[in-house]
Amino acid sequence: MSDQAITILSNLPAPLLAWYDAHRRHLPWREEVSPYRTWVSEIMLQQTRVTTVLPYFARFMETFPSVQSLAEGDTEQLLKLWEGLGYYSRARNLQKAARVIMERHGGVFPQTYDEVLSLPGIGDYTAGAILSIAFGQKVPAVDGNVLRVVSRIIGSEENVLEDKTRKQCRQYMDAVMPVQRPGAFNQALMDLGSAICLPGGEPLCQQCPAGAFCTACQQGRQRELPVRINKTKRRIEEKTVFLLLQDGCAALRQRPEQGLLANLWEYPHVDGHLEEAAAARQLADWGVRPHQWRKRLSARHLFSHIRWDMTCYVVDVTGEGPAEWLWADAQERQRRAVPSAFIKLTRELPDGKDNA
Ligand code: ADE
Repeated sequence: MSDQAITILSNLPAPLLAWYDAHRRHLPWREEVSPYRTWVSEIMLQQTRVTTVLPYFARFMETFPSVQSLAEGDTEQLLKLWEGLGYYSRARNLQKAARVIMERHGGVFPQTYDEVLSLPGIGDYTAGAILSIAFGQKVPAVDGNVLRVVSRIIGSEENVLEDKTRKQCRQYMDAVMPVQRPGAFNQALMDLGSAICLPGGEPLCQQCPAGAFCTACQQGRQRELPVRINKTKRRIEEKTVFLLLQDGCAALRQRPEQGLLANLWEYPHVDGHLEEAAAARQLADWGVRPHQWRKRLSARHLFSHIRWDMTCYVVDVTGEGPAEWLWADAQERQRRAVPSAFIKLTRELPDGKDNA
C-alpha cells in the first residue's frame, strides 16, 4: 500500500496549495505569525472549533502578549481566561512550557523538533504545526482532520484511532509535502478537512481540489472512510451535584490541586445518584438546611476518558456549610474558573449568567 499511497498523494500539493491560496481562512494567527501566536492558537484549537477559539485567542494575546508575560502571569487569571474552552490542562501546560522556555531557552522559542516536542502539552501534531507554520520547516502535522482527508484520498481502511495509522500517515506526508511552503501545506490540509472533506456522509467533493484522484470520491466510499474503531471506553461516574442558593449566593468549593480539573471551582457534589431523602441527609451532614427544593435535573459531560452522569438539585438553603465553601454572588462566580462540566447546571441559577 505505501508506495501506491505515496503515488496518489504526490498529486496533492499543487492543487491543494492553489486551492488554499484562493480559499484560505483569514485568521488572526495567520495574519500575524510568530512562534508564540502559532503555539497558543494550536493549543486552543485542539478539540475546539475555530469560531469558538477566536475571542479566546484575542483576549489571551491582550492579557499575555509574550512568552515572558505568560510565564510570569497569574495562574488563576489564566484559568479564568480559559473558562469555557475545557481541557484545562492545556492552559496549565502552556504556562509550564512558557516557564521552561524562559529558563532553558532564554525566552526564545526552540526550533528543533525534539526540543519543541519535549515542552509540556506539545505532541507530534502541535510540534509539526509550530515548526512548519512559524519556522518554515518541512515537518508534517497530522491530526484527526488530516487523517480523514488522507484516508479518503488513498482509500485506506486502517483504523485512524490507532497510533500506527497516524505514524504511517506522518510518513506519507513527510514524503509528499513541499519544502517551499510546508506551513501553507499543513494549514491547507486543516482547512480542507474543516471546509470540504467533512466528517460523516456529506463531504463537498465537487469543490475539492483532490476530487480527480481521491479514491473515496471515485468509489463513492466517503461515508465509510475513515475507519474509526474506538477501543478505549469511557469510565462512567455518577454524581449528585448541589446548586445551593442563599441570599443571591451559591456555594462553591475548590477542587484538589492534583487530578482532573485541578484547582478549579465547582458546586458541591457527591458520588452516586441520590434520591431526595438521601440528598437531604447529605445537606444535613454538610450543616445546611433546605427551605425550598426548586428543581431536579440531569446532565451529562464527556471528558476524554470519563463520563459524568449528573443528577442536580437546585435548593434554597440556610446555614454556612463546611468551612472551605465559598458563598459566591454572581460577580464572584464570574471571577472564579468553573469547569464547563457544570455549565448546563449553572443556567439554573437565578441570574443565569454563569454560562456567558
Ligand atoms: N486547526 C488546527 N490548527 C489550525 C490552524 N492553524 N488553522 C485553522 N484551523 C486549525
